[in-house]
Amino acid sequence: MIRIENLTKQFHGEGETVTVLSGLAMHVQEKTIVSVEGASGEGKSTLLNIIGTVDQATTGSVMVSNREVTSMSEREKEQFRAHELGFIFQHHYLLPDFTILENAMMPLLIQRNSIANAALEAERVLAMVGLAHRLQHFPSQVSGGEMARAGVARALVGGKKLILADEPTGNLDKANSDRLADLLWQLQGDLGFTLVIVTHDPELAARVPIRHKIASGRLTRL
Ligand SMILES: Nc1ncnc2c1ncn2[C@@H]1O[C@H](COP(=O)(O)OP(=O)(O)OP(=O)(O)O)[C@@H](O)[C@H]1O
Ligand SMILES: [Mg+2]
Repeated sequence: MIRIENLTKQFHGEGETVTVLSGLAMHVQEKTIVSVEGASGEGKSTLLNIIGTVDQATTGSVMVSNREVTSMSEREKEQFRAHELGFIFQHHYLLPDFTILENAMMPLLIQRNSIANAALEAERVLAMVGLAHRLQHFPSQVSGGEMARAGVARALVGGKKLILADEPTGNLDKANSDRLADLLWQLQGDLGFTLVIVTHDPELAARVPIRHKIASGRLTRL
């Protein structure tokens, strides 16, 4: 599913260059759950963003779903993200003026599905994450755990093959973190997507079958 070789990422600031990733390799099999762990500032989010085609490698090869993402045009990346990738964030980024249902429909509407089909699919996935009774609520009217689960539903609509999660439990208490992890594992078993989890959370990381650590710009298996 993911095959990265010799990835380098530098940020160019005013007169200085920061090298974040240097010669990094990463291989992820389809339908597996893997972690990326490591200290703050080591480049976990940067790596996830490069896999997710929202940031660019400086050099190297990044194959995702058998496509070389480093040579895609902006338009191709947009299409690729819309059809293949789902993102789960620590700060869920639900749109406050839209209901939970509308938030989950959003990726499908961007892909130009009809409103009726988008609503059906979003309702189906919201039911899977236990939010069938919260469709017409606004994000401010649901709990933190429910917001996180709505963010999971938004990532999954449309049958995504690769889900990238950056600190998915970062804002949650222990009970809600456990529930979210249970849900992710159950959905991954049922739907068979590949799941890459960036996390600092030792309890979440301990559940991940294939763990990686990022340090000094490189990735190693734990
Ligand atoms: N757009 C940018 N311009 C310059 N430097 C950046 C940029 N984005 C990230 N960096 C730097 O790259 C390094 C890695 O950042 P990144 O966000 O990937 O870390 P992280 O491992 O996700 O950390 P955290 O655990 O705190 O989220 C940091 O030192 C950061 O300051
Ligand atoms: Mg980060």
